[in-house]
Amino acid sequence: MSASAIFASSEDALHAFLVVACIAVLHIAIRRPSRRHVDAPETSGAGTAMDGAIHQNVIKAICYKVHRPQPYHGWSIHDTKPLPYRAFRYGPKYNITMGLRTIAADEWIELDNEFPKYHADKAARIHERGDKCTRTDPDAIPAAIELLEELTDYLPARYPSLFKRTRVGIDNLWSGESVNTVERPLREDPMALCARLVQDDLALLLEQPDGTYRLLAGCILLAGFWRLSDKFGMSLSDIHTSGNVPFFREKLERGMVKFFQRMNPDTIHGRNNYFIQLDHSLPWSHSIGSEDDPVVGWNTAERAEIIHHHWFRSERQTLRRLPRTRAICFTIRTYFLPITQIAEEDYVPGRLASAIRSWDDDVSKYKGREKYASVLLDYLDRKHQEQMHNGLDVSREEETRRYPW
Ligand code: HEM
Repeated sequence: MSASAIFASSEDALHAFLVVACIAVLHIAIRRPSRRHVDAPETSGAGTAMDGAIHQNVIKAICYKVHRPQPYHGWSIHDTKPLPYRAFRYGPKYNITMGLRTIAADEWIELDNEFPKYHADKAARIHERGDKCTRTDPDAIPAAIELLEELTDYLPARYPSLFKRTRVGIDNLWSGESVNTVERPLREDPMALCARLVQDDLALLLEQPDGTYRLLAGCILLAGFWRLSDKFGMSLSDIHTSGNVPFFREKLERGMVKFFQRMNPDTIHGRNNYFIQLDHSLPWSHSIGSEDDPVVGWNTAERAEIIHHHWFRSERQTLRRLPRTRAICFTIRTYFLPITQIAEEDYVPGRLASAIRSWDDDVSKYKGREKYASVLLDYLDRKHQEQMHNGLDVSREEETRRYPW
C-alpha cells in the first residue's frame, strides 16, 4: 500500500513521521537516567507516578497536531456584531464554581466589528502605560513567541478578510500593520505584538519547579478593575487571594490547581463572568479610582445615581496549553454595553435582577453591589414588569436561550 493511500495529505504524512521520530527519541531519553533521577531519592525501580505523568504529558505535546481553523463564513470587520454573552443565572443561590466548558478550536479567538475601537484603545494604552500593562519575563520569551506564532497561523486561516500570512509573519489588512515574527530582536514586546492582533487581553502562566503556575507574561490593556503590575510574577493562588476573590480557598483553589496540571494542548477551555461598572471606560473603570492610586477598589467608588451610568461588563476567558513550551495561555475578551441596552432584550432584566439578588455578602462586596443596587434593581424590575405586561412568557425562556447566552 502506498503512503498516499494511508495519509490524506503530505502534511499528515510529515506529522506522522515527526510523531514516530519524536517518540523514538523520547523513548531513548526516558530510558537514560536523568539528573532528576540522580538527585531524587529512589522510590521504586520502575519510576514514580509523577515520572509517568510527565512522560504522558510530553508524549501528548509531541502528538499534538496543529489545528487549522475553518474560515469564519461571512465575517466582516464592518458588519459582524459582538456576540451577546449574557452569562448570569437566576437565583435564589449563586453557585461558586470554576464554570469551565470546552471551546471548539476554531472559536479560540472572537473578533467583530468593534476591532477598530479595541485596537485603538490598546495602541493608546501601550503607548501611554508601557510596561505597567505589557511585560514578558525573560523566562517567558519562548512562550510569548510561541503564542505569537500560534496567532500568526490561526488568525489568517480564521479571519482571511482581516489577516494575511506572509513569508515572515502576518499582515493586518485593515490597519496596514505588518508583523515580522522571525526577526530578532522583535520590534516590540512579543505580548504587545500579540495583543495588537486580537481584541483580548493576554496572559501566560509558566509552571515552576514546585508545580505552581506563575504569571510571567501579559498584555493586560482593557481589564477595567485590575492591573498587570499588581499581579505580575504571582502564582495563580496569590493572584486570586490578593484580589479577595470570594470563596477562592474554599471552593476554587484545589480544582484549579488540578485543572492546570492536567490541561493538555488538544482542548481549549472557556468561562464567562459579568460585572456592573459605573462609568463608560473600557480600559480602566475610573469610578473605582485612578489607575495609579496605590490601592483601588469599590470602597473608593461613588454611589451611582442614574441608570445611564450603569454598564454591563462581561468577560469571555479561554485557557489552553501551548504545545511546545507548555505555558498556559489565558485570554480575556471583554464585552461592554450599557445596561439600558441589554435590558431591552427579552428575559434579561428579570434574570439579571434575580442574579444580583442571589449574591451573598462576600460576592456582593467583591462586585460592589451597595454602590448601585437600589437604582439598578428598581430599573430592572420595572423593565421586567413591562416585558411581562407585553406578554413575555417566562416559562419558555429555556427554549430560547442557554447559558452563557
Ligand atoms: C480555571 C481557571 C480560572 C478560574 C476558575 C478563575 C476564577 C476566577 C473568579 C471566580 C474570579 C472572580 C471574578 C469572576 O467571577 O470571574 C477571578 C478573578 C480574577 N482572576 Fe481568575 N480564574 C481562573 C484563571 C485565571 C488566570 C489564568 C488568571 C491569570 C491572569 C486569572 C486572573 C484573575 C484576576 C486578575 C482576577 C481579578 C482579581 C482581582 O479582583 O484582583 N484567573 N478568577
